Amino acid sequence: MLVARPAANIIVEPGADAAADRTVEHVVGVIAERIAEAGACHLALSGGTTPCEVYRRLAAPAVAEGIDWAKVRVFFGDERDVPQDHVENNYRMVAKTLLDHVPIPLPHVHPMPADGMDLAAAAKEYEDLIRRLVPAGDDDLPRFDLILLGLGADGHTASLFPGTHALPERRRLVAAQFVPVIGRNRMTFTFPLINAARRVTFLVTGADKAPVVASVLSSDAGAKVRLPAAQVAPANGELTFILDTDAARRIDADA
Ligand code: 6PG
Repeated sequence: MLVARPAANIIVEPGADAAADRTVEHVVGVIAERIAEAGACHLALSGGTTPCEVYRRLAAPAVAEGIDWAKVRVFFGDERDVPQDHVENNYRMVAKTLLDHVPIPLPHVHPMPADGMDLAAAAKEYEDLIRRLVPAGDDDLPRFDLILLGLGADGHTASLFPGTHALPERRRLVAAQFVPVIGRNRMTFTFPLINAARRVTFLVTGADKAPVVASVLSSDAGAKVRLPAAQVAPANGELTFILDTDAARRIDADA
């Protein structure tokens, strides 16, 4: 079911598996379109648990063999302050579910280094890498073809958590910050980079996310202040929410 809204496309699928399948279809379509149009596709992938099934499905031979991986570049929207071989590392999760199983050239995969001693310097380096490799849009900002995002129950996305100093950042494209609610450092895309993208797509499933999905999609101005994900609004891009019925159950019909 596609419910078009001025601000976002909302796609509701009957379950988490169907939502994952729809996301795979979406990602495969973007990759094919951008390779046809521009000769390459620049993706920024999400961590967390929800997208794991998407990555596994993208790695399935029937899907993977239809993708020209030599023309795909993969970045990460955020990373935890742990080494790449740590079970909590987002790059490790994406490598194990997808990257280790497809012929993407190693130099096309750009892990986000969030476990070093000088995270501010590492964030600047990752930002410089993105500026070097991701083609810019009319606003001279790197314009990802697709940024895939998840949504936390507190309204965070990437590692833009409520009340953290990266939220008002409007100059830096990548920031490192201590996140008090989890007691850990994180590195993350900031809103200027996210909102410069050609497409930003949230994949959200599960009844526990229903309240925050409804708040993020509501027209309530307070939501934008309280919930970082409500500030995702690509200026010249397409915003899509792919949900399962559980996560969509609280959306106000006339939102
Ligand atoms: C991360 C993600 C984060 C995630 C949400 C939802 O590094 O964990 O970038 O923003 O998308 O926390 O996580 P789940 O998919 O596990 O619910």
